[in-house]
Amino acid sequence: MPKLISKPEYEEQTAASRDRRMTWWRQARFGMFVHFGLYTILGRHEWAMANEKWPIHEYEKLADKFRPNPGAPKEWAKLAKTAGMKYMVMTTRHHEGFSLWNSKVNPYNSVNYGPKRDIVQEFVDACREQELKIGFYSSLMDWHHPDGGAAAYDSTARKRFNDYIYSLNEELLSNYGKIDILWFDVPRPMEHTEGWNSIEMNQRLRALQPDIIINNRSHLPEDFGTPEEHITAEKDRDWEACMTFNGLSWGYIDSKRVVPYSYNVQQILRMLATCSAGCGNLLLNIGPAPDGSVPPEVVGPLAATGKWLELNGECTYGKIFNFNNLAVSAFKGMGGIGNRLCSISKKENTIYVWNWIWPSDGELIIAGLSGKLKSVYILWNGRSIGFTQEKLRIILKDLSEDNCDKIAGVTVIVLEFESEVELIPHATLPALASGRTFDI
Ligand code: GLC
Repeated sequence: MPKLISKPEYEEQTAASRDRRMTWWRQARFGMFVHFGLYTILGRHEWAMANEKWPIHEYEKLADKFRPNPGAPKEWAKLAKTAGMKYMVMTTRHHEGFSLWNSKVNPYNSVNYGPKRDIVQEFVDACREQELKIGFYSSLMDWHHPDGGAAAYDSTARKRFNDYIYSLNEELLSNYGKIDILWFDVPRPMEHTEGWNSIEMNQRLRALQPDIIINNRSHLPEDFGTPEEHITAEKDRDWEACMTFNGLSWGYIDSKRVVPYSYNVQQILRMLATCSAGCGNLLLNIGPAPDGSVPPEVVGPLAATGKWLELNGECTYGKIFNFNNLAVSAFKGMGGIGNRLCSISKKENTIYVWNWIWPSDGELIIAGLSGKLKSVYILWNGRSIGFTQEKLRIILKDLSEDNCDKIAGVTVIVLEFESEVELIPHATLPALASGRTFDI
């Protein structure tokens, strides 16, 4: 048992090691979330047990029907690798309370029931085989545990429940070698740090895995923020947007129902661009089918994303500087100034313009970037592009059609400047456009 320290000391200590622990994560930028559990069999949202008010003993019967194919996690990990993702986070136990490992404290698990296999072990092995970093999702809520509700108002039940939750995570962080991320979820029924004993719990868990990265869902800010189903940069802090693949459900839904809602490669690239511009990560979810197979509507877009990243990864991975609220671009002939037709990310003196719409007349105007432009080229084929630069206006010339990206139609144009570039804030540009004198 480590010597326990106070909250300020704990926060100071974790902050001091953060840069070291987060180095790979900041480089990685793109990961796969996997939601898999008994709810998968129902195929209608991972909250089905609560939403449909299933009696526990009825829901428990699903455990024996849970029969994923051996090797399913290998398929997920292979797809993650193909998609250009660098890490995975799997639901080791969702709110329903069913553990996907050989838990001694929770007999309601995949070794005693259903497949009679340790799915967590299979997941860990699959990640290692593909050299992906490993994340464990671990709900703090438990609808199956007898103290899961009473813990809110009964201190004896709370003590038992806290011990139970700690022991589950202790098993996960003790029995599978090096684990990279602990991804907590839903700290209910207790509404505050004290109720969960989070400071003590997380200190003890960190002692088991000194390099681990912990998210912000145990009533402590910890290492990174987790905007969910929206991509919003957090200020002066690491963050990771977690997104379903269809805006509907994290758990599996029958393909026939979700296909029209599923993301295509362009939408995934837009998400990645937004994350990159805001210096955050994208954790994109898949909900495998009951046999563990990956739904077909997910495979195509992810494979295409991976192909695109093979050629264009430079604008996504690694330290990208935050250009939030500053990026501006004008598109010739479209009138007006906005940042909707391109996205912009930046590394030192280089600007990456993620171009969503290829200009039919071969010209593209980019406005609002200060600094002397040195060269312009297309990221995927390395071809250089002619340009003129006049004050805040850069005109790219002769963007012939054969330079347009062939995978997704999302072409990244690289602008290399002689020195650090600045963006002229959005708000000043209408003044320029209306002809008011403004010394640029
Ligand atoms: C929510 C949901 C949960 C899902 C999670 C992913 O908190 O309760 O079902 O697993 O988000 O971020």
